[in-house]
Amino acid sequence: MTQIKATNLQKVYHVEKLTYPVLKGIDLSVKQGEFVSICGPSGSGKTTLLYTLSGLEPYTGGSVVLFDKELNLYTDSEKAKMRSHDIGFVFQMFNLIPNLTVYENILLSSVLGTQKSKSEILDVLDLVGIKENNDYYPYQLSGGMQQRVAIARALINHPKIIFADEPIGSLDYKNGLSIMQLFKKLNQELNVTIIMVTHNEDTTKYGTRTLHMLDGKVIKDENSN
Ligand SMILES: Nc1ncnc2c1ncn2[C@@H]1O[C@H](COP(=O)(O)OP(=O)(O)O)[C@@H](O)[C@H]1O
Ligand SMILES: [Mg+2]
Repeated sequence: MTQIKATNLQKVYHVEKLTYPVLKGIDLSVKQGEFVSICGPSGSGKTTLLYTLSGLEPYTGGSVVLFDKELNLYTDSEKAKMRSHDIGFVFQMFNLIPNLTVYENILLSSVLGTQKSKSEILDVLDLVGIKENNDYYPYQLSGGMQQRVAIARALINHPKIIFADEPIGSLDYKNGLSIMQLFKKLNQELNVTIIMVTHNEDTTKYGTRTLHMLDGKVIKDENSN
């Protein structure tokens, strides 16, 4: 089942009177259960692609069909519902709320979807390997553990797709490896689609497919083995 279909996707930023084309006509479709890595040099448009595919940023040309509906046709409330129920985000810097515990960070996210019971929250923390730390505050955790909390937060509403922007970019090698193994497990066991930006080509082996970007275009689209 196709979940995302981008056709001639374009994005132009305007700064003062200048225009900067950042996405220059991208065609892409992603099916349920794929694990797509997007790599390419800094400034090639990876984050912009992720944000336009997920509806975080508007695009300026072409189209994106997400879950069978053109993104530009979603009303604000449909978009809010889609964001809280159907997709999850993981960022490089975790973005946890510092004065809430691990458990409360997940609870808050679940309230934005359909509020979950205590056992459902503990189950998702168990799935990402951090249940024992549920009453810790973010500052009491390592970067790798904080990223696990962020992944649990992205998972709590059972999204169909997780978008991740350089999720191991601020982690050391060992923590990065274990987060990649976690993504792979989630992809294989929950069949959740993962679209992950990475600047490290080594990590593309965890995925099923790799897009290489250069200067606003996809220059290579290959299956990983
Ligand atoms: N809000 C913005 N306004 C203007 N230019 C932007 C904005 N966001 C990103 N850009 C430019 O778009 C290009 C691609 O950025 P980005 O998608 O962040 O690339 P990547 O994630 O591959 O490093 C860069 O040249 C960046 O400077
Ligand atoms: Mg980026």
